[in-house]
Amino acid sequence: MKVQIDKSTTPIVSPAVVISVGDWDNANLITLAWVARVVSEPPVMSVSIRPSRHSFTLIEKLGEFVINIPNSDLIREMDYCGTRTGRKTNKWEDLNLTKQKGEKVSVPLIKEFPMNIECKVTKRVEYGSHMIYLGEVITVHVEEGLLKDGKIDPLSQDQIVYIARNYYGLTKEPLERQAFSVE
Ligand SMILES: Cc1cc2nc3c(=O)[nH]c(=O)nc-3n(C[C@H](O)[C@H](O)[C@H](O)COP(=O)(O)O)c2cc1C
Repeated sequence: MKVQIDKSTTPIVSPAVVISVGDWDNANLITLAWVARVVSEPPVMSVSIRPSRHSFTLIEKLGEFVINIPNSDLIREMDYCGTRTGRKTNKWEDLNLTKQKGEKVSVPLIKEFPMNIECKVTKRVEYGSHMIYLGEVITVHVEEGLLKDGKIDPLSQDQIVYIARNYYGLTKEPLERQAFSVE
């Protein structure tokens, strides 16, 4: 038997990632869960930000963002960036995080985070509580150790997953590969 729950509960996994916004001197960090790959060609990511966030002003100004993907050992940094505002504190300094120059965006990457996706905003949609930004992927940076034969090694992934206000690790072996049912 199934029961119906509050429709604002999201019974689906989301990432828990830290986005950098703003130019080098003014760059801020914000944790987001409403993040997804939404187009295959070209690669496009969607991120949703409430207009009340300090980061909103910065992304509006520059039209660029970087998705920094933490490993589970960066869980405190990830939570910190989602519970303090850049209006009151410098999250880079608080957490001893290093700004790394992007290849094609003026928003800095977080050096200590193993994967970073540079994006340029191509569309924005105002929807209820959030502004949805669609960002075309410009460059993807990955720590070499996470690759096998030049490709992402799924078994080396240690990302943080967000489900119903809790953080989980990816410590289990994958169940199957996508499209295994066709093989
Ligand atoms: C796990 C997690 C996920 C979050 N996801 C979002 C999100 O998708 N969109 C959003 O606007 N805020 C989200 N937040 C809240 C912001 O990260 C938080 O309000 C932050 O302090 C805003 O920082 P800023 O004012 O420096 O921009 C999330 C927070 C956490 C902890």
